[in-house]
Amino acid sequence: MSLFPSLFKIIRKGKCLFLLLLCLCVVAWIATFSNDDTDKAVQDGSNSPDDKGVGGFAQMELESEMMQSVEERVEEQAAKESCPEQSPLLRGAIKLSFDPSLTIGQVESENGEVVEGQYNPSDCTARQSVAILIPHRNREKHLLYLLHHLHPFLQRQQLHYAIYAGDATFNRAKLLNVGYLEALNDQSWDCFIFHDVDLVPENDHNLYMCEEQPKHLVVGRNSTGYKLRYKGYFGGVSAMTKEQFLKVNGFPNSYWGWGGEDDDLRIRVTLQKMSIIRPSSQVARYTMVFHKRDSGNQINKDRMRLLRRTHQAWKTDGLNSCSYKVLSVHRAPLFINITVDIGRPERAH
Ligand SMILES: *[C@@H]1O[C@H](CO)[C@@H](O)[C@H](O)[C@H]1NC(C)=O
Ligand SMILES: *[C@@H]1O[C@H](CO)[C@@H](O)[C@H](O)[C@H]1NC(C)=O
Repeated sequence: MSLFPSLFKIIRKGKCLFLLLLCLCVVAWIATFSNDDTDKAVQDGSNSPDDKGVGGFAQMELESEMMQSVEERVEEQAAKESCPEQSPLLRGAIKLSFDPSLTIGQVESENGEVVEGQYNPSDCTARQSVAILIPHRNREKHLLYLLHHLHPFLQRQQLHYAIYAGDATFNRAKLLNVGYLEALNDQSWDCFIFHDVDLVPENDHNLYMCEEQPKHLVVGRNSTGYKLRYKGYFGGVSAMTKEQFLKVNGFPNSYWGWGGEDDDLRIRVTLQKMSIIRPSSQVARYTMVFHKRDSGNQINKDRMRLLRRTHQAWKTDGLNSCSYKVLSVHRAPLFINITVDIGRPERAH
């Protein structure tokens, strides 16, 4: 009787040991198998057991390289975050100077990061890509003063931007249509700023960005005691998105000489049920670099008649009928100089 239970004990112990070993084997096998599987899943991007063999191995390597480059790109994007809603570089109102001995070489050396008229912040992704369009005529000194102030101003606003300048027979509106169309050949800008050459912004809180509605940036200028010229004034400097400007069919092409085209644009904006917004009068301040109106740029006596037909004419007189010939596009260090033949006024009546 005493032999029996001890034998029984030994057998039971052996069984336990056997079971224990079996369990360990199973666990180890499961562990290897599942490791294998996850590795493959990462490299293949699939669990399919079919694509093995020599070719499959090469493909696995290729795909793992691709995965790596995707990871690198994701890291790069994470490193270059969107620029903050308010740029930390803004300085508010600044004293402007207009030194008659200023040269283009000086302004170029002050703006080493501008390449062919274009700038992109290096440490963050700009919130908007903005094309600044400056029509001018025989006013290279004004253009120089404006470039001198505008480049650092726009860089403090952390914008991706380019400056386009055009010199042609005086038709501000048509030149701005041309500027819009030509700038879009370069890239798909979000926002367009239509900018007189003789107005220099005084406060960098006046953001050169577009909003839900077309924006007028010149509430006041030193030459008018910083008061709005008249209710509804939409000239000087204004901002419209690519879509807003397309929606109103751009500016009219038929305004030759001085005046009227900015009122026409305001009418077009209102016809599309958009409204014009303005920054505060504390911020939207400009200095007008004094000049006499140049000869060949006489008051447009036709403007009242033209404005009366805008509600009809906007559909056919604008971006969709803007014909011109590009004579040259010169990418200077600080601006893109577009020279075009925009034709001559049709003598209607
Ligand atoms: C506006 O400022 C400019 C530049 O300082 C100056 O040349 C011009 O005379 C000023 N205009 C008026 C009306 O004060
Ligand atoms: C722009 O280019 C035209 C044609 O080459 C040239 O005559 C004009 O002086 C240039 N304008 C500026 C501001 O450099």
